[in-house]
Amino acid sequence: MLIDRTYAKVHLDNLLYNYNQAKKKVGKKTKVLAVVKADAYGHGSVKCAKHLEINGCENFAVASLTEAIELRENGITKDILIFGRTRVENYIYLSKYDLIQTVYSLEYAEALNQCKQKIRYHINIDTGMSRFGLYLHAPRDLMPVINEIKAIKKLPNLKYEGIYTHFANSDEADREFCDNQYKLFQLLIDEMNHLNIETGIKHVANSGAIVSHPDKYLDMVRFGIGLYGYPHDRMPIDLKPVMEVYSHVTSTRYIKKDDTVSYGRLYSPEENEKIATIAIGYADGYNRLLTNKDYLVYQNKKLPVIGRVCMDAIMVKVEEVDLKDGEEVEIFGFNKPLEYMCKLLNTIPYEILCNVSKRVPRLYD
Ligand SMILES: Cc1ncc(COP(=O)(O)O)c(C=O)c1O
Repeated sequence: MLIDRTYAKVHLDNLLYNYNQAKKKVGKKTKVLAVVKADAYGHGSVKCAKHLEINGCENFAVASLTEAIELRENGITKDILIFGRTRVENYIYLSKYDLIQTVYSLEYAEALNQCKQKIRYHINIDTGMSRFGLYLHAPRDLMPVINEIKAIKKLPNLKYEGIYTHFANSDEADREFCDNQYKLFQLLIDEMNHLNIETGIKHVANSGAIVSHPDKYLDMVRFGIGLYGYPHDRMPIDLKPVMEVYSHVTSTRYIKKDDTVSYGRLYSPEENEKIATIAIGYADGYNRLLTNKDYLVYQNKKLPVIGRVCMDAIMVKVEEVDLKDGEEVEIFGFNKPLEYMCKLLNTIPYEILCNVSKRVPRLYD
């Protein structure tokens, strides 16, 4: 069946290019884990992980058990780390699917240990995100954390494999907070080494740190947004956007001065005008706050969005081009940077990519 509404082109060659850029940047001693949570930031986790796995990627991460199971059931065989909490009642799936669970407290580890299945895990350390993990915000927190780690590691049914923390602002110019988080993590690692506590795989860097903090790579880096090509303007490594979104013209019409467009009647032309209706709306992930603000691209010409964004449609002004029913227009992609929409919405590429909704088919090349 042909697509008659909105679709996303996912360029797997660019995904692999970005992955290889990170590998080159971090060097041979450091592994690159591909973060494919949230359906690979909207790109399709199974397709993306498969493409990376056949090209040598050995480590993946997701946010939840269900995301991990989806990958396993679709043939991903390499390591999958779950960042989030899995309910203890679901432990059976952790062992059945050979997943790596994040452990964030002794209490949680003890509950998992009751399950009497070998469960692989990494420990998460909260060095400043205040989100998840053992609390280590200052050197005074060190000994309680060490004691908790010792107790967790004694639990016989759990298999310790690594330890990590997550940075709050590794992508910002002010490096102080990130440096301090790293110092706290290193303090912990030094103390573990001093006490002969095996550290396993140590990992802290996300995309921002991969680019801006080359002193913080350790054994593995966790590459998320950079894998999908963002933010390619600020990155000192070359990255290529992986997703482009296109839609189709539903119909065109001429409207007259004093006519109004869409719900709420927020647009009225100053003189007779040709407009087109495009088959994308907020149910496809096209944000309603883009009303009267954004533009689309057709043959290198800008088509301003006019009137309120509907659930299934938007309208654009057609000035200099001859646009016909059924033709394709670019929502964002190689000719219209996603960053433009980010500015209008005061948001980050992560959010717009993740919000491209389920009803938008992904086409892979
Ligand atoms: C624990 C953890 N590591 C790594 C990442 C990847 O971060 P980024 O997409 O900024 O590379 C995330 C994403 O939120 C995360 O939660």
